[in-house]
Amino acid sequence: MTWRDFPKIELHLHLEGAAPAAFIRGLAREKHIDISTIFAPDGGYAFRDFSHFLQVYEAASSVLTTPRDFGRLTSAILEELADNGVVYAETFLSPDFCGGGDLAAWRDYLAEIEDAAQAAEATHGITLRGIVTHIRHFGPEAARPIALCAAETAGDFIRGYGMGGDESVGKQGDYAWAFDCAREAGLHLTTHAGEWGGAESIRQALDDLGVERIGHGIGATTDPALIERLVEDGITLEVCPGSNVALGIFPSFAAHPLAQLRDAGVKVTVSTDDPPFFHTSMTREFEELNRAFGWNEADFADLNQTALAAAFCDEDTRTRIEDKLEAP
Ligand code: ADE
Ligand code: ZN
Repeated sequence: MTWRDFPKIELHLHLEGAAPAAFIRGLAREKHIDISTIFAPDGGYAFRDFSHFLQVYEAASSVLTTPRDFGRLTSAILEELADNGVVYAETFLSPDFCGGGDLAAWRDYLAEIEDAAQAAEATHGITLRGIVTHIRHFGPEAARPIALCAAETAGDFIRGYGMGGDESVGKQGDYAWAFDCAREAGLHLTTHAGEWGGAESIRQALDDLGVERIGHGIGATTDPALIERLVEDGITLEVCPGSNVALGIFPSFAAHPLAQLRDAGVKVTVSTDDPPFFHTSMTREFEELNRAFGWNEADFADLNQTALAAAFCDEDTRTRIEDKLEAP
């Protein structure tokens, strides 16, 4: 079996961030929107650092203007994921980019995304669930309507709530209203923490937002007491090694603390974050981790079990996915 064929679960994937550059370029051309500066000569996305990445990300997202665009995008992404052996994925969905936080518009966008997910499940056997996400650097007030969109559409497909964006803006606790609203609606919770913000950002996420998963979480590496807490509380990290390497947080996969965190007993999972931006895929992540740490099929099967246990889906779906992991 090749690493491409090996079954995989991906828990941390931004829908707009998974848009192939050619897909975005095609939409820009159709709509006569000039975003040529966000592309490199080789046709991929071009950015200098994390802050510039967020700007390029928003410019790319600006050509996704209709529910149909998001339906087409979801279909393209799920075909690509299935081709990489992914059997279950959770994706971050941002009402900010889907109707600007207006609930009626959000319902229209979501309907197209769900239709595309159902069709992909029938065609490729891949299951998708959604995590509604507000953008941190848009501020706490802007997060409120996003949380209301999440609460109103919580159900079989929308399973969680989260926060992405610039971790240097404000504190995790500034967004407690949005997370409380989502929790009351029965949604599971995760937030980007300890990608750029260090251990303190992770502590705040646990103390002030009460999340059950952490996006990235690599900032815990330098804080043994926090690592102990993550282990004791059974917090799962959505680690994205290729993203961290591409953004220059670590020089290589071999220098990444993923194996160290796993050896310390932390529940770690592996995802791609924004694969075309970071020139990665779930297959490449597995290949690089095999090369860097010698992880074998048993290690990746173990990783899958951790991801399955931490997935925000309902129990029937979890059982179905477990069967797929056992019979690749
Ligand atoms: N949005 C998309 N990718 C992100 C990342 N790596 N960190 C924070 N917000 C994001
Ligand atoms: Zn992310």
